Amino acid sequence: MDVKVRKGRVSDFANIARSYWKPEVPWDPIANPRMLKEHVGAKGFLVAETDGEFAGFLHYLVGQHPWFDKGTSKYGQILELFVKTKFQGQGIGQIMLERAITDLKRKGCSTIYTHTDETNEVALKLYAKTGFRPFLKTFYLKRRSES
Ligand SMILES: CC(C)(COP(=O)(O)OP(=O)(O)OC[C@H]1O[C@@H](n2cnc3c(N)ncnc32)[C@H](O)[C@@H]1OP(=O)(O)O)[C@@H](O)C(=O)NCCC(=O)NCCS
Repeated sequence: MDVKVRKGRVSDFANIARSYWKPEVPWDPIANPRMLKEHVGAKGFLVAETDGEFAGFLHYLVGQHPWFDKGTSKYGQILELFVKTKFQGQGIGQIMLERAITDLKRKGCSTIYTHTDETNEVALKLYAKTGFRPFLKTFYLKRRSES
């Protein structure tokens, strides 16, 4: 099995949008190749191919002074990490993540952030393995509408 991770291209947007889950809002650009092209661009995308077939993608950004962590200047953030179901568990997520970490370090980012749900055990294990530690909690709250 030959796994290759390369920079994303506009021509990958159809595969990226197709592999992504159903968006919560219709204007989520990751689910829409046209919006990806017009509003996001290929910068920050990595694509994994297994024997030439699209296997997954990662999307990161480089920013300055995150509102959620005062005192950090230049930082990287993993926005999306996705491996197609049939390719999961073969090390591809880890390869993309390590490549993103290398790229972001090279770009001078002092800190790299990512996020996932507390129920996503696979992602949490992968992030722990690649050096990420919890630092901020976001609460999802709910109330019954009849109460
Ligand atoms: C999370 C995700 C990106 C992981 O990618 P992957 O290619 O399947 O993971 P890898 O094969 O690179 O595994 C790397 C590590 O993740 C953990 N892992 C992978 N599959 C696992 C499983 N089924 N159960 C528990 N841990 C698992 C392990 O720590 C593993 O390292 P190890 O094999 O040395 O123990 C992938 O499962 C995915 O796309 N899931 C749906 C989208 C998602 O949840 N994205 C992430 C956060 S938003």
